[in-house]
Amino acid sequence: MLSKDSRFARGQLKKVIAIYPGSFDPPTNGHLDLIERGSKIFDQLIVAILRNPDKGPLFSLAERRLMLESMTEGFKNVSVDTFDGLTVDYAAKVKAGAVLRGIRAISDYEYELQMALMNRKLHPELETVFMMPAEQYSYLSSRLVRELAQLGGSIKDLVPEMVEQRIKEKLDPAIKLQHAREPKKMRKRG
Ligand SMILES: Nc1ncnc2c1ncn2[C@@H]1O[C@H](COP(=O)(O)OP(=O)(O)OP(=O)(O)O)[C@@H](O)[C@H]1O
Ligand SMILES: [Mg+2]
Repeated sequence: MLSKDSRFARGQLKKVIAIYPGSFDPPTNGHLDLIERGSKIFDQLIVAILRNPDKGPLFSLAERRLMLESMTEGFKNVSVDTFDGLTVDYAAKVKAGAVLRGIRAISDYEYELQMALMNRKLHPELETVFMMPAEQYSYLSSRLVRELAQLGGSIKDLVPEMVEQRIKEKLDPAIKLQHAREPKKMRKRG
């Protein structure tokens, strides 16, 4: 039998890997808030972008991956990956012991509870951990950002600047073109 001390030592050595699955289309400051909180309590956090062809995404998987990589480069224990199929299968593949999910309002609760309990049925060892974002992000969703941007509203403060720029380019390809031409124009002037 293990003595108390050796159990303690074993607990100390155990590294907890968590996955943070979602569609991140686009990633928002709410996602970033959760990633930061998760990075503090887990040894390793994998932001896992779900390949979901039905949803008709605004950004391709590769684009979402690049944005998330850039947003998380300051966190040493956070990485970004993509997956399809069941979350529990992906978790097993990367040896994750926990799934991180965010709860914004009561409206998230019912769906999240359903998912968490179904995942527990499929894989009892995998724990779902819910975290709450800072108050100012408690109403923020990717859908809200997509809709707001499409209607011409300001998404400043809702997403990182780099994401805001990408969204502008996506919705108005002329902006991208203009940026591509800018260095030439500057050269002419100079
Ligand atoms: N502002 C936020 N605060 C806390 N958790 C969040 C926030 N936005 C998303 N999450 C959580 O992140 C996880 C992944 O969410 P997802 O990628 O579906 O984002 P979403 O904003 O819900 O997107 P969509 O509006 O397209 O459904 C979910 O657990 C979701 O509850
Ligand atoms: Mg959602």
